[in-house]
Amino acid sequence: MTQDELKSAVADAALREIEPWLDKDTVLGIGTGSTANLFIDRLAKHSGYFKGAVASSKASAERLERHGIEVFPLNSVGTVPFYIDGADEVTARLHMIKGGGAALTQEKVVAACAERFICIADGSKYVAQLGAFPLPIEVIPMARSYVARELVKLGADPVYREGVITDNGNQIIDCFDFMIEDPLAMETQLNNIVGVVTNGLFAARGADVLLLGKEDGVERTA
Ligand code: A5P
Repeated sequence: MTQDELKSAVADAALREIEPWLDKDTVLGIGTGSTANLFIDRLAKHSGYFKGAVASSKASAERLERHGIEVFPLNSVGTVPFYIDGADEVTARLHMIKGGGAALTQEKVVAACAERFICIADGSKYVAQLGAFPLPIEVIPMARSYVARELVKLGADPVYREGVITDNGNQIIDCFDFMIEDPLAMETQLNNIVGVVTNGLFAARGADVLLLGKEDGVERTA
């Protein structure tokens, strides 16, 4: 199976997972990226069965709206029963690295407001230890150099993602060569650097369910 076929399989599985819970008042939290896009496309076929969605990026909001799915501001919704999103890396403990698409801050906010976070990923995203994928950090632009120096002190090799401006008007630093032994502790440590808006470690609020696309089917971990 190709990576796209594995992503499609987990998008289908996520829809099956939430289908019994959908009703006319349901507002879903929707992530960002190629796997989330496949899920949005499937969701479109069920648009009469739920109220709408909160999006974690402008790109996802536009895709939802193109499908005729109403997009609500998070502040008007409060909490969502499910947040469905992909990951750049995910472990057996359902900790993740996210932010390859630079949407990490809004992803983390919507995830924080979700009763259940369903992570959908193809098998290549499954790792024993987080960090081979460069960890994204969203920073306030004027703090970029300072934050980069602090990241070097922590052992990372920070690289400015040139030309990328986040939906919040900020910049991204990617941390290379930064294998993460304790994701919970590192997430807090990174948050404590002044000028950091969000880091791409999702450990304090990891996923509740992982749907992992493998050659022999979708593996569900909860
Ligand atoms: C967006 O910023 C990311 O967190 C994505 O959720 C993550 O990169 C997964 O993307 P794909 O589904 O495209 O692999």
